[in-house]
Amino acid sequence: MYSDRIQISNLTLIDSPMWFVHPIYSNTIVVQGLTILAPIHSPNTDGIDPDSCSNVRIEDNYIVSGDDCIAVKSGWDTYGIKVGIPTEHVVIRRLTCISPYSATIALGSEMSGGIRDVRAEDITAINTESGVRIKTAVGRGGYVKDIFAQNLTINTMKYVFWMTGSYGSHPDPSFDPKALPMIQNINYRYWSAENVTYSAQLDGIKGDTFRDICISDVSIGLTEKPKEVQWNCTDVSGVTSNVTPKACDALPEKEGVKCNYPTDRLPVEDLPLLKCSA
Ligand SMILES: *[C@@H]1O[C@H](CO)[C@@H](O)[C@H](O)[C@H]1NC(C)=O
Ligand SMILES: *[C@@H]1O[C@H](CO)[C@@H](O)[C@H](O)[C@H]1NC(C)=O
Ligand SMILES: *[C@@H]1O[C@H](CO)[C@@H](O)[C@H](O)[C@H]1NC(C)=O
Ligand SMILES: *[C@@H]1O[C@H](CO)[C@@H](O)[C@H](O)[C@H]1NC(C)=O
Repeated sequence: MYSDRIQISNLTLIDSPMWFVHPIYSNTIVVQGLTILAPIHSPNTDGIDPDSCSNVRIEDNYIVSGDDCIAVKSGWDTYGIKVGIPTEHVVIRRLTCISPYSATIALGSEMSGGIRDVRAEDITAINTESGVRIKTAVGRGGYVKDIFAQNLTINTMKYVFWMTGSYGSHPDPSFDPKALPMIQNINYRYWSAENVTYSAQLDGIKGDTFRDICISDVSIGLTEKPKEVQWNCTDVSGVTSNVTPKACDALPEKEGVKCNYPTDRLPVEDLPLLKCSA
């Protein structure tokens, strides 16, 4: 907590009882070259959870977990709204994730301080429940915006794209029902998946549409017995381009669109790796 310029590298971490690596209220964090192993049936064993942090670089990690491999967070309901520290400027690359019951990368569900500018690329997910999953709820407030994920390779997955606007859990029952989260500018491109059950389950919030979703150049191969409705969308809007199977009407095909991925570099990307002295 409250730290600056932290590097965590070249370690194997096994069987944490809860989230493994959890930087909070910190800046300029490099988490690199970790092997993280938890039994796939163990609850709450997220791999790496940057929480109200900025400038975070997560690269070259191998994670097997019973919960999300990476979960980007920023506080929970009124408490997170009050503290108001976002997680921003995060790059996640060269991750291999195995997590049959959770996400490769989750955004939320604690996101009340806001999550923005998350870039993920070169990700391999094997036998994982979902690719990138946005988890939020009425009462969270905050936002998840300017999210970019490119070059995901997926083998065996339940939901490639998943957004959940009714992620129930609250720290106490007195959350503010008027605190609606804003979900906006979500960009996914160059994903390739095999053996998938559902292409997308995208559930926004009634009266609070998740918007500016862009998905381009995505090819999804299905399981032997795929579900009939491959894209199930409510309260979302955006576009798709060159996506198979064809998306829902809420995300109509717009030929030639390439979704965005930032071309600039984050300051933390140029930080040299340090070695501990023996
Ligand atoms: C991502 O995939 C695209 C299309 O295959 C390719 O042009 C690009 O170089 C890849 N980017 C990275 C960072 O691997
Ligand atoms: C495909 O996915 C199913 C689960 O939906 C799994 O049981 C099966 O082993 C996978 N097949 C391959 C070839 O990975
Ligand atoms: C579509 O999603 C809704 C939840 O948003 C669910 O109630 C419904 O059963 C789903 N439909 C299908 C065909 O999967
Ligand atoms: C991590 O381990 C690899 C392989 O032994 C080594 O090449 C690299 O320098 C190490 N990195 C750090 C930061 O110690």
